[in-house]
Amino acid sequence: MQLIETVAAMKAQVAAWKAEGLTIGLVPTMGSLHAGHESLMDAARAVCDRVVVSVFVNPLQFGPDEDYEAYPRDIERDGATCAAHGADAVFHPTPEDMYGPAHNTYVVMETLTDALCGASRPGHFRGVCTVVTKLFNIVRPDKAFFGQKDAQQLAIIKRMVADLNMNVTVVGCPIVREADGLAKSSRNAYLTAEEREAALVLSRAIRAGEAAVAAGERDTAALKELMAAVIGEEPLARIDYIEVVDGLTMQPVETVGASALAAMAVYIGRTRLIDNFLYEEEA
Ligand code: PAF
Repeated sequence: MQLIETVAAMKAQVAAWKAEGLTIGLVPTMGSLHAGHESLMDAARAVCDRVVVSVFVNPLQFGPDEDYEAYPRDIERDGATCAAHGADAVFHPTPEDMYGPAHNTYVVMETLTDALCGASRPGHFRGVCTVVTKLFNIVRPDKAFFGQKDAQQLAIIKRMVADLNMNVTVVGCPIVREADGLAKSSRNAYLTAEEREAALVLSRAIRAGEAAVAAGERDTAALKELMAAVIGEEPLARIDYIEVVDGLTMQPVETVGASALAAMAVYIGRTRLIDNFLYEEEA
């Protein structure tokens, strides 16, 4: 497996693979890889000739008071994880190489980015859309793999690819959870032992919501109230948002119907965690 540290070298390798007629799968990450990322690599490995994992903590998607500096970085450990999951290359550019001093072009989406995490993190999805576009242009993947845990990000990237006629298929992969239910996240590393225990309240609320929907609840106000009540039982938890939206448009819905997305962001201490479930109406 190669560690590729410049945009130029990555483009050269991609050109060589393309010349051989090989298909390329891209797993975009910010590193600090966990089982959720591993499932994306495995999905890519199963269907693509070459697998590239990008490891780039993208400064553009962090707000001024967010954790850009503190975000965990360990390229040696991440490289070993990628190798163990059959990646052909880890693309690990510097911020300076990705965003030169004259960089002045951004990818901005309209309404999909306003709700949920976009409302709490202004500018976040502008950073995500811009870096993902750049990664697509550099790696030219046939398929790109993203986790359903970041459901809004996944919907936004699918929309962007369709709107801008990008030549890539976006593949969404299921949320991976710890044995006790906590959704895998690089930010789980910030939690103290007490907070780690408290963080289970998110998956408890998700399960309660799913059970209510399975039992026939369709009123989203009642569903949100139910999930908020579960979160409210945990003193260390503070709700950022709990919403039920259309899974494609991210607009709030009053009734749980086809492809409704119930999503939440909850602070456990200073750590903001997200979780969600998608309701797919049976045909
Ligand atoms: O989901 C992430 O880790 C990031 O938002 C992504 C897609 C790698 C872009 O920086």
